[in-house]
Amino acid sequence: MGKEQTVISAIGAVSSNGMIGLNNWLPWDIPEELAYFERAVAGAALVIGRQTYESMEVVPADSFILTRQSDFTPRFGCTAVNSIKAALRGALATGKQVFVIGGASVYAAAWPYCRYFYLTRIDRDFAGDVRFPDAVDLAPCHVDELARQTYLERHSGEAVSCRFLRYERQSPVAVTAD
Ligand SMILES: NC(=O)c1ccc[n+]([C@@H]2O[C@H](COP(=O)([O-])OP(=O)(O)OC[C@H]3O[C@@H](n4cnc5c(N)ncnc54)[C@H](OP(=O)(O)O)[C@@H]3O)[C@@H](O)[C@H]2O)c1
Repeated sequence: MGKEQTVISAIGAVSSNGMIGLNNWLPWDIPEELAYFERAVAGAALVIGRQTYESMEVVPADSFILTRQSDFTPRFGCTAVNSIKAALRGALATGKQVFVIGGASVYAAAWPYCRYFYLTRIDRDFAGDVRFPDAVDLAPCHVDELARQTYLERHSGEAVSCRFLRYERQSPVAVTAD
């Protein structure tokens, strides 16, 4: 028996109408939801799509940036990788917890390898230009509601309900060498 692999998790937030992004940022402005995300991934190794990476002001060390560009130079402490397996292998090799933080195609590519999806369901429709991927089928997963809170969404000035869920899949695929 080999050593058991570190758990890989995905994390993100989605609106009632399936949106995750707008203009290369989030469709909403809910500081408490962002703070939940930041607390959850603090100290972890991150797997990030290039577009999401470009939108982030601060990117922690031990982040693995997915890109198909051969000449991409990421910020200090980050590593550019050209496949999801390379990203996950690199993240696992750090010995830290591993979080896949999106966007859409990265969630889709990484989901077979993930044990958990920490998903905040924001119970309102928002305009957006990036959707949560259909390829991430959460329907068969066991789901735990970790918390439920109502926060002020700052663009609209309206209260929104956020459900902090954790989906668990039974048999994630192991990350192997190519
Ligand atoms: N609500 C949330 O929780 C959440 C989370 C994350 C992001 N977002 C939002 O989502 C939007 C960005 O997401 P997105 O889906 O448009 O972009 P993305 O996934 O962040 O980045 C896409 C880019 O990643 C690279 N890539 C993706 N899959 C790859 C693979 N298998 N192999 C190699 N490279 C790969 C490619 O980069 P190159 O073009 O360089 O080749 C691709 O253009 C933003 O609006 C962001 O704010 C929301």
